[in-house]
Amino acid sequence: MKVLVAGGAGYIGSHCVRQLIAAGHEPVVVDNLVYGHRAAVPATVRFHCNDLGHPDAIDAIMAAEKPDVVMHFAAFAYVGESVTNPLKYYQNNVAATLHVLEAMLKHGVNKFVFSSTCATFGIPEKMPLTEDSPQKPINPYGQTKLDVENMLKALAPATGLSFASLRYFNAAGASEDAVIGEDHEPESHLIPLAIGAAQGSRPALQIFGNDYPTPDGTCLRDYVHVDDLSRAHIAAFAKLTTPGSQNFYNLGTGTPTSVLEVIKAVETVSGLKVPASFAPRRAGDPPALYADATKARRDLNWTPKFTSIEPIVAAAWRWHQSKPKGYGDRK
Ligand SMILES: NC(=O)c1ccc[n+]([C@@H]2O[C@H](COP(=O)([O-])OP(=O)(O)OC[C@H]3O[C@@H](n4cnc5c(N)ncnc54)[C@H](O)[C@@H]3O)[C@@H](O)[C@H]2O)c1
Repeated sequence: MKVLVAGGAGYIGSHCVRQLIAAGHEPVVVDNLVYGHRAAVPATVRFHCNDLGHPDAIDAIMAAEKPDVVMHFAAFAYVGESVTNPLKYYQNNVAATLHVLEAMLKHGVNKFVFSSTCATFGIPEKMPLTEDSPQKPINPYGQTKLDVENMLKALAPATGLSFASLRYFNAAGASEDAVIGEDHEPESHLIPLAIGAAQGSRPALQIFGNDYPTPDGTCLRDYVHVDDLSRAHIAAFAKLTTPGSQNFYNLGTGTPTSVLEVIKAVETVSGLKVPASFAPRRAGDPPALYADATKARRDLNWTPKFTSIEPIVAAAWRWHQSKPKGYGDRK
């Protein structure tokens, strides 16, 4: 299938582009490169350097490409920034998505795969999180993702749009050949921060809170390899054949891993010490967030290849070792 990958030069999108090619699909990328990297997308893939916030541009791309499916990764995802500058998030994550959906429907494109997040669940009462767990986001970032989910729920019966909303837990790792990987600036994710601290390219790590009600007192999260996530997107195509079908999946391994366990994995894999110190808890950090991914495993026949933290960290380590400055295009 021809797949328009919005945000395909970003971390998860670029891995998905390569997985699409491996599965025999034809990806086309649109990305404004605000956070993405041109070098993360193979030169053979058609690339539109455009902003989804410009309705005329996205309309022209949709008219020219007429994809079978749109995968939508393009969004801003810094929780703290979403609190201090919410309009930036509503503009990019909600309004720009509306332009994409408008252009799709105008040009008869009616299959959509959306990057949602476990941040839509807020501070959950019960673990693990199923698709039916209550969604009560506690920051504008999570709210904008839930707003898009709600927009999709309204559009499906009204227009026949079929969609899969994939709620990722913590995307991690890098391609197995270490050619592409995570290169965010600013970086907010634990694994690259811990690796950077070990390599000496980033400051010593701060561990926010060691008095949580968890086995070692640090927060528990669910790390899922970025290629496993990508494969779930492709598997989701099978659920989009019926017009108006609505699909929600939680994508994680279901294995909670603590901050200290991640640090230990980095130290084991690298043979280096991760300089780290404890700092007070951050507001809004739930003690534990992990998925019950039974539905994705069953409906999508999705079996994550990476089920424990060490091989995920090892993949990230290989990428950061081979490209210590990432793609080397930081502005
Ligand atoms: N990384 C994670 O752990 C994680 C977890 C849950 C959900 N998500 C969601 O997954 C998606 C991808 O995350 P990521 O880590 O790959 O982020 P990323 O920032 O690496 O990728 C997003 C890409 O979208 C592009 N983009 C943003 N706004 C755009 C616009 N208006 N027009 C065109 N391009 C635009 C950026 O340049 C970037 O290349 C995001 O929607 C994010 O909210 C990520």
